[in-house]
Amino acid sequence: MEQTTPMHTDDPSLVAAFEARIAAGESIEPKDWMPERYRKQLTRMMSQHAHSEIVGMLPEGNWITRAPSLRRKMSLIAKVQDEAGHGLYIYCGTETLGVDRHELVQQLLDGRAKYSSIFNYPTLSWADMGVIGWLVDGAAIVNQTVLAKASYGPYARAMIRICKEENFHKRQGLEICATLASGTPAQKAMVQDAVNRFWWPALMMFGPSDTDSPNSAELLKWRVKRKTNDELRQRFINLTVPQAQAMGLTLPDPDLIFNETTKDWEFGEIDWSEFFEVIKGNGPCNHERLAARRDAHANGAWVRDAAVAYAAKHDARATAAA
Ligand SMILES: [Fe+2]
Ligand SMILES: [Fe+2]
Repeated sequence: MEQTTPMHTDDPSLVAAFEARIAAGESIEPKDWMPERYRKQLTRMMSQHAHSEIVGMLPEGNWITRAPSLRRKMSLIAKVQDEAGHGLYIYCGTETLGVDRHELVQQLLDGRAKYSSIFNYPTLSWADMGVIGWLVDGAAIVNQTVLAKASYGPYARAMIRICKEENFHKRQGLEICATLASGTPAQKAMVQDAVNRFWWPALMMFGPSDTDSPNSAELLKWRVKRKTNDELRQRFINLTVPQAQAMGLTLPDPDLIFNETTKDWEFGEIDWSEFFEVIKGNGPCNHERLAARRDAHANGAWVRDAAVAYAAKHDARATAAA
């Protein structure tokens, strides 16, 4: 798809009409007028989301050959494949904003684009597959359920299908965790260790506090985001603490306490310096993840070439027949 030139400059009367549509709860569609800044913010957010889906395949892909049973292996393969599909829907959605998917993928491979910080942590044991499904997909659901009401139609619609699949991801993770948590002492220790390593990085997935999040105000104003990072984080914690308790797992936060008045689980200080280091590229697995993506891209070149050649042949035949 060609890079679209702005249809209009950001004429204040057009912006006012656009904002009135947003306020009325209308959804914005690809051919509608939108401020360039809205297009830019959505492109950034959706492409980061798409990158996160496909980089997110890597930590779990590591464990497919080591799944402890055929049933677990089938679920894990299906889940990792779903994440590829999520990447595909969202890259397609991003193209409706007038950007080319190849350019977005190139930004990821060059290290110019961001993706979710959580995927830069290693997966050290089988229990990590359970904890990722439970906490990481669980956090993604909280985020994406709200994005399903985002003002941009193609993004919102992609989220509806994605959330259905994410629910399966979370359930299979929860089942792995519950099985291990009620297993042998060694299994219980393994799942507890995984929870200890993933709890805080999962909370960081919602991003910095809104006061420190440069894009939040604008995204909220245009209803791309419907809730703040802090609201979503709190919702995730409130949903997750009772699940941990039900499984007999401890969350690694001594400050976690239920507030009877607000009905919220209050929690300890998040180490944002760790988050910013990971975002800057200094997490435990940033280099490994990007190297794996670059290899996969290079190894897949023949498939892309074959697809293009096939499409050209098909077009030529259709033209000749017409
Ligand atoms: Fe996903
Ligand atoms: Fe998922």
